[in-house]
Amino acid sequence: MSETLAIVLAAGQGTRMKSDLPKVLHPVVGVPLVSWVLRSLGEAGVTDVCVVVGHGSEKVREILGDGVRFAVQSEQKGTAHAVMCAGDALADSEGSVLILAGDVPMLCAETMRKLVAMREESVADLALATFRLTDPTGYGRILRDDLGNVVGIVEQKDATDEQRAITEVNPAVYCFEAKKLRELLPRVGNDNAQGEYYLPDLVKLIVEDGGKIVGMESPNPDEFLGINDRWQLAEANEIMRRKILRQHGEAGVTLLDINSITIGPDVEIGQDSVIHPNTVIEGKTSIGYGSAIGPNSWIKDSVVGPRCRVFMSHLDQAKMAEGSRCGPFANLRPGADLQEEVKVGNFVEIKNAVIGSGTSISHLTYIGDARVGSRSNIGAGTITCNYDGFDKFMTEIGDDCFVGSNSTLVAPVKIEDGSFIAAGSVVTRDVPSGAMAIGRGKQENKEQWYTAWRARKTSEKQ
Ligand code: UD1
Ligand code: CA
Repeated sequence: MSETLAIVLAAGQGTRMKSDLPKVLHPVVGVPLVSWVLRSLGEAGVTDVCVVVGHGSEKVREILGDGVRFAVQSEQKGTAHAVMCAGDALADSEGSVLILAGDVPMLCAETMRKLVAMREESVADLALATFRLTDPTGYGRILRDDLGNVVGIVEQKDATDEQRAITEVNPAVYCFEAKKLRELLPRVGNDNAQGEYYLPDLVKLIVEDGGKIVGMESPNPDEFLGINDRWQLAEANEIMRRKILRQHGEAGVTLLDINSITIGPDVEIGQDSVIHPNTVIEGKTSIGYGSAIGPNSWIKDSVVGPRCRVFMSHLDQAKMAEGSRCGPFANLRPGADLQEEVKVGNFVEIKNAVIGSGTSISHLTYIGDARVGSRSNIGAGTITCNYDGFDKFMTEIGDDCFVGSNSTLVAPVKIEDGSFIAAGSVVTRDVPSGAMAIGRGKQENKEQWYTAWRARKTSEKQ
């Protein structure tokens, strides 16, 4: 389908969403509506894509970035007018032009491919997808003649009662022949109930022109559901979420509660991993085989290796290598990089820090902007003081170190291999290999002090 041009209509406001965010940017399983359409186009092999933007065009462009062209429709005068605004893209196209709305996230690549193939094989001017709904309210109705040929589409607002009873509807998924589209588009008028230029009017114009239209009725109406309000958005989210879960289930992942697990479309999970309830895994995340994630965990854009355990924890742009564990209540922030068999326990926050293999950081600790070697033990309550209010500094801890509880490591500071930090130390100077650093007030015991004090207090109160 190398010659196919796709025009995605995404200029409408989406009034019924009641939102400041342009409709096509509302997410389904974490991915904006219009991006779902673009993903399917990519999968179908359509590389030439023009998105027509209008309402919130800046934001839409920003989110979609490079890789697609944009056309601007500054005033929304209808779907045919939107296509006219993509005139530049259309001008040099030959062959098939696929036109889709940006608010149909569930449309599959397979259906797009089929529609294009159908138009090309039957040398038609238009291949039109249709589907049936028990309640067709709101959709354009498909008009067929006695022989079953598609002869027109009438919008809900322009339809007679008899036409409104038709249950075959227009999902707004079209494949036109480029030249015919260019030729007939200027002839679309706006003499209708909404005073808009309707793209479906091309059906009638092609028929009048003696052209050929083929209809492709889809047996899978879910695919065509357009999103107009938040409830439809919620329903689409549910359908897509379950579809993704099912793929993981079929690929050998155990899902312990399909009602409360969300997995994004770009997440990879190895065989024999187990996902516990209330867990969200999103962005570009991969999980190795035999790992267990959750319950109550959130992972985004992270790489979790095989045989890892993430227990009630939060990972964002973090890495965990084979056999490492974290949680409960660990917070692995961007740049946290746990090597093999690392153990991170409760209330531990790690940011921009490589933690060498076999190291334990078991309780109540902040490690930020650091490099920690292998087989070291970081005691409860250790804090790397990485920030002075202006700049960030590095803490380096070597292999086989023991950092006693409640130590404060004031960066920049280096603790060399095999050294020991006494509990409660404030460390401001480098510690050489093999040394013990102790930086705290000396303990003094005042003999019988408390006994005497208590005796005095007791006599005063009598
Ligand atoms: C359209 C079809 C209708 C079909 C329905 C399926 C028309 C006239 N009617 O109706 O037959 O059953 O889709 O959902 O086409 N858009 C623009 N610029 C505009 C107007 C719309 O870019 O000036 C975009 C919208 O952002 C949206 C898409 O086109 O993505 C469809 O527009 P919408 O207003 O939702 O059309 P419907 O009334 O639903
Ligand atoms: Ca619509």
